[in-house]
Amino acid sequence: MQISKSSQWNALSEHCKLMQSKQMRELFSQDPQRASRFSLESCGWFLDYSKNRITNDTMMLLLQLAKKAGLEARREAMFSGKKINSTEDRAVLHIALRNRGNQPIMVDGEDVMPDVNAVLKKMKDFCEEIRSGSWKGYNGKAIKDIVNIGIGGSDLGPVMVTEALKPFGDGPRVHFVSNVDATHIAEVLKKVDLSETLFLVASKTFTTQETMRNANTARDALLKVVNNDQSAVAKHFAALSTNSKAVQSFGIDTKNMFEFWDWVGGRYSLWSAIGMSIALHIGFSRFEELLAGAHEMDTHFHSSPLEKNMPVILGLLGVWYNNFFSAQSQAILPYDQYLHRFAAYFQQGDMESNGKSVQLDGEKVEHQTGPIIWGEPGTNGQHAFYQLIHQGTKMIPCDFIAPAQSHNPIADHHQILLSNFFAQTEALMNGKSEAEVEEELSHSSLSPEERQKIKPHKVFSGNRPTNSLMCKQITPHSLGALISLYEHKIFVQGVIWGINSFDQWGVELGKQLAKTVLADLEKGDVETVMQSQHDSSTRQLMAYYLKNKNLKNNN
Ligand code: F6P
Repeated sequence: MQISKSSQWNALSEHCKLMQSKQMRELFSQDPQRASRFSLESCGWFLDYSKNRITNDTMMLLLQLAKKAGLEARREAMFSGKKINSTEDRAVLHIALRNRGNQPIMVDGEDVMPDVNAVLKKMKDFCEEIRSGSWKGYNGKAIKDIVNIGIGGSDLGPVMVTEALKPFGDGPRVHFVSNVDATHIAEVLKKVDLSETLFLVASKTFTTQETMRNANTARDALLKVVNNDQSAVAKHFAALSTNSKAVQSFGIDTKNMFEFWDWVGGRYSLWSAIGMSIALHIGFSRFEELLAGAHEMDTHFHSSPLEKNMPVILGLLGVWYNNFFSAQSQAILPYDQYLHRFAAYFQQGDMESNGKSVQLDGEKVEHQTGPIIWGEPGTNGQHAFYQLIHQGTKMIPCDFIAPAQSHNPIADHHQILLSNFFAQTEALMNGKSEAEVEEELSHSSLSPEERQKIKPHKVFSGNRPTNSLMCKQITPHSLGALISLYEHKIFVQGVIWGINSFDQWGVELGKQLAKTVLADLEKGDVETVMQSQHDSSTRQLMAYYLKNKNLKNNN
């Protein structure tokens, strides 16, 4: 089925023609209840979606589209452990990792919860050992630094969360190495004392080239300081993985391995053992609060009617702009410095999930799928790219996110920050009309000619959509709920677009090709490279590299 051929889609296309001429500022002035009508509070988060190009009819039509796409049935399928990741024949159960109610969730006739709980217990004990200082390194010192070695989903989630929850960080310091560029690990190694450092090798597959290269470099660095005493590895390395064989052959004792399962997608894995760096940094009970926040949002998503369902509303609004207004991207703009990696995290979350062009049924999609996700924290973004959002030719729907309370309540910083948030969403919605610009210019010292000249540059079309999300404070609980909200939003959109949000074949291709190129480079001579199967541009680049890699730089 092509959703774009459905009557529900056609109805939205027709409705969109009508909405193109509607100004949000007029909709607000016609309806004093608009803000409260298009707002929702759940799981500690307040969502105001009234500054969108929508009416009651829009929401009704979008909900009909969601029903047509079978959202409710698919949601049920996910929560009940069905193998909805059909291209990998896997269930999709990040919700089980934070299933604090402990209701059984069956996969292949077996409840996954006992295993989930057993790993959580093992993580808890490990956290206590490390944080209390009873775990000792090779020379009897306690652990002060944690280095998480992982990439993609085995890095971005823990990085984002440990940054977001820095005010709660009362355990060892955390560092992250993801890039295979040696600079990354070299710079981290400069900051730590290996005798007080624990490396977490975080990899679902335990075969990822970048991670394994970095893990080997870390192990070599350790073995060097202990004169090759292999017993030190067990004291300084733990593994977070689904692949116990590969963990063993790396030399990590499986008693220091924290397991998870194939039904945990890499980009949905921070709730699993992959979250170990988070738990070590903020403590296990805080980690459980993170899980509890996510669970509350899961329950809201699972059981609330679609029209009162936050992830559904956010997902549908995204579809509205992506598919009917041809918006190409979506900005995520947290007004909280600690959330500075939030947009980067959901770049993977969203783009790896919904960057697909083939439907579940194998047919090529005939509609747009996932948007480009980007963003930076406010107010930095305001002084960088907001110009384009306000006056550029592209529509960029934006999510503004902020807590009412700062963890650093210094003078009026937070009030200034939030006034920028509110002012930006107001300005994006209202814009500034010609008449308003004229009025403003009439108070200036400019001549009439100068005013005429500058006027068009000062006009803002407005009518630019934003969602505003607020909570009391960023805590493990509220952050857990926020992440889960975005995860389910991605799911909702994937269902509407008819794609599998849980595989990533596009990334696999790059992984395979890099291995072939590396094998050719290892042969080391330009002649062989020039005769290889690669295209002429790639051969030329490889040859340039081989010719130059050992030349002294004379400049
Ligand atoms: O980036 C592609 C990817 O497959 C992600 O989905 C995953 O998070 C990442 O690689 C790392 O994979 P692994 O945890 O197996 O090392």
